Amino acid sequence: MITISVHSWSKGLPLKPVIKWAGGKSQLIAQFLPLFPSKVNFLVEPFFGGGAVFFHLNPQKAIIADKSEELMNFYRVVRDNPDQLIADIKRHVNTKEYYYQVRSLDPSQMTDVERASRFLYLNKFAYNGLWRVNSKGLHNVPYGYYKNKRLVDEENLYRISATLRKARILCGDFSLALEETEPGMFVYLDPPYHPLSETAKFTSYTAAPFGKEEQLRLAQAFHNLDKQGCRVMLSNSDTPFTRELYRGYDLVEVTARRSINCKAEGRGLITELVIRNY
Ligand SMILES: C[S@@+](CC[C@H](N)C(=O)[O-])C[C@H]1O[C@@H](n2cnc3c(N)ncnc32)[C@H](O)[C@@H]1O
Repeated sequence: MITISVHSWSKGLPLKPVIKWAGGKSQLIAQFLPLFPSKVNFLVEPFFGGGAVFFHLNPQKAIIADKSEELMNFYRVVRDNPDQLIADIKRHVNTKEYYYQVRSLDPSQMTDVERASRFLYLNKFAYNGLWRVNSKGLHNVPYGYYKNKRLVDEENLYRISATLRKARILCGDFSLALEETEPGMFVYLDPPYHPLSETAKFTSYTAAPFGKEEQLRLAQAFHNLDKQGCRVMLSNSDTPFTRELYRGYDLVEVTARRSINCKAEGRGLITELVIRNY
């Protein structure tokens, strides 16, 4: 995978995303640079995931959101309670037995800090660093057998925490964050991709799938944001369906390396689309 450094403005050191996330955009930031608006004061990111775009742009203000409750609880705790999170993380150990024990815990019975700590632990030690849930919303990735893996870079976590203090954090469907938009805001939309083929799906970030209906609802939201006077940029797969959905807008092809996909056809370099209204 190509690694691009993301700048931390507070100390001039690279700011690394704290978690690995399927579909994360760190590897595409270099290709995105000429596509971002020249100035971004207020960013709205309703499909936040690993937050590569937010951490790169480091706007003065932001609304960040995602449908994954464990993910957004994690960011809230990183922002508001980094000391307690780091203390809790230290009790975890890297063994197969312990991993499955932590995986089987019910997050709804835990404190926010314990949930965030469990989330980070599973993200680090799951196979491929993957966070994937089944239709009941339960994490279902097997143990990854990673020796000598550091659970957390404390210094980086504190810098991420400081950066997140500029953001309002929401959890829910993308429409929730879009209720808050105002003219002039920059909205980056990075939904689960429309599958290239029936066998190339990765739609299990959350219990609810993101199907054709959701893609249509999102395209309508894109048009509404355009009418409202927002600058909108959207990533998606390069398929006849996505090209048709956004016909009339600026379409740019970028090249991505797929790294999280169990199907061999999903590996290697592929073309993806960036769609913009500016
Ligand atoms: C392609 S990933 C985003 C990756 C992110 N840009 C990054 O750099 O890591 C898509 C995200 O959409 C979230 N998601 C799925 N369905 C959603 C919905 N209906 N509303 C909002 N977020 C949703 C998933 O949890 C996932 O984090």
